[in-house]
Amino acid sequence: MCGIVGYTGSKEAFTVLIDGLKKLEYRGYDSAGIALQNDGRLEVAKAAGSIADLERKTRGKFEPVTVGIGHTRWATHGRPTDDNAHPHISCCENFAVVHNGIIENHLALRARLRDEESHRFRSQTDTEVLAHLIEEYYDGDLLLAVRQAVSRVEGSYAMVALSAKEPGRLVCARKDSPLVIGLGEGENFVASDIPALLAHTRKTYILEDGEFASLTPAGVVVTDARGARIDKQLFEVKWDAVAAEKGGYAHFMLKEIMEQPVAVRETLRQRIDAAAGKVTLDELAFTPDEIRNLEKIYIVACGTAYHAGLVGKFAIEKLVGLPVEVDLASEYRYREPLLQKGKHLVIVISQSGETADTLAAMRLSRESGVKVLAVTNVVGSSVSREADQVLFTWAGPEVAVASTKAYLTQLIALYLIALYLGDIRGAVAPALAAELVRGLRALPDQLGLVLAAERLEELRAYAARLARWEDAFFLGRNLDYAVAMEGSLKLKEISYIHAEAYAAGELKHGTLALITEGIPVIALATQQAVLEKTLSNVQEVNARGGSVFAVTQEGHREVARQVDAIFYLPPVHDLLAPVLTAVPLQLIAYYAAAARNCSVDKPRNLAKSVTVE
Ligand code: F6R
Repeated sequence: MCGIVGYTGSKEAFTVLIDGLKKLEYRGYDSAGIALQNDGRLEVAKAAGSIADLERKTRGKFEPVTVGIGHTRWATHGRPTDDNAHPHISCCENFAVVHNGIIENHLALRARLRDEESHRFRSQTDTEVLAHLIEEYYDGDLLLAVRQAVSRVEGSYAMVALSAKEPGRLVCARKDSPLVIGLGEGENFVASDIPALLAHTRKTYILEDGEFASLTPAGVVVTDARGARIDKQLFEVKWDAVAAEKGGYAHFMLKEIMEQPVAVRETLRQRIDAAAGKVTLDELAFTPDEIRNLEKIYIVACGTAYHAGLVGKFAIEKLVGLPVEVDLASEYRYREPLLQKGKHLVIVISQSGETADTLAAMRLSRESGVKVLAVTNVVGSSVSREADQVLFTWAGPEVAVASTKAYLTQLIALYLIALYLGDIRGAVAPALAAELVRGLRALPDQLGLVLAAERLEELRAYAARLARWEDAFFLGRNLDYAVAMEGSLKLKEISYIHAEAYAAGELKHGTLALITEGIPVIALATQQAVLEKTLSNVQEVNARGGSVFAVTQEGHREVARQVDAIFYLPPVHDLLAPVLTAVPLQLIAYYAAAARNCSVDKPRNLAKSVTVE
């Protein structure tokens, strides 16, 4: 959620840092700052608010120096104030530090540094102890001082340090928080995330836990905690720089919704044998016996990824014939799940691959000897590196905080996993597998139909009405309920309209009391097996004056007679319907938020990647 950029080279560092930080704005932040190395001194500027504010306040105030570090902070320890913004400097002002993560023992370290070594602290942050520790240990070599400083620290860090006394040098370290080195010609970069580097280089080193890097314009040296040199493998970034830009759309979120046909096609690419009507996941290396011996599957994730997991449960139970438990990672990690090595498989889902709770859940599972299969969108992410097996979603970088294309590709990944496991276990009838494979292949075009201009207008018109309300309800049964939960989350997180998702059959157990004249109710009715039941719940809403907008499949004409407005999806296999059903809900949320002038891409209080518990 916080962003780091560091630069050493011959360009004006101020501009490189500010531009790099802007590329990380999507991570969410509430203050920003930079430190520049200038002729034996450090110059620091930081402020609560946006990077644009910081830029306005400081542009032209610094000499054009060529080495510096920058940071965007999302407050955890200490409020979002100028003082708490990074970089943090030591007492002598010779050392500056930017840091992502949490230093768990910062209070004890702060007390010792203050009481025994007379250090003066300027902020309430955990990070500031790092600057003082470095000052404490510094004896002419910044790398050595950083190594000693982090050896005192418990918790997680991606950090970069700058010293006034070592011209052109940056030193960085990582544990449990991502950090990437960008390699240039006569210049080098470090960042918490690849988009900050793309304007300059595609050649990177992905730092691993316990690694340190020393950067100068001439080169990068990576070492371990003992100082032994590590030969890093070059990671060539394939992402297109413009893939991280907004293109012609008003918001990243809309751009990403519109990219879904491509994202789904990419995620299916090379994973389907159309002629055989089968899924071929060559990247997974489970042995057939490992799969046949399974008795149960856990799916663990947070937020939207959890909602994808709820759909995955239906697909896996139907196609693999194994029971599936879906857990929120924050609950799972503290509930002592009854894991059995060899008999259980844990599937973790995380777009970013850095979500703290999901990572912890994965580690806990692996410690018990159970294999973990990760579904993630970020190559090189912590989840992807630590899981036993990984199935990447190929959604491309997702910038808007509200997840859309990542969610849809997570659904695709889960269908692929279900068909793959079901095939190996002989649990899925070949005819059904072939039908679903055909259905999956048709989805990109069907998504294109749902995203046609006139369909967007239907949704925009409905959202304009919805935007006037402060409460809304989503109803559905079975798979529709799983998607209703995602639709409700989407609406509340970006439009700030209070929304609740209910299993339609639960209405009369309490929620019906909240249905009053005109209240917007979005009913999902795509599942043939429970259509009648859902429609009788719609009648319950109608009888209390609620205003129902239904999403259903073409062919379910009977729905139209019972609702105020309707959105038809192209005919789709019921099991795959969530991939289409989610899209109008994303768009309703988007248009409602835009109509309410909300900060669509960066909703208040939220961050893209939740790397703290
Ligand atoms: C909501 C949203 C979040 C994330 C959640 C998990 O739109 O994006 O609920 O799904 O924070 O994030 P990842 O998938 O990165 O682990």
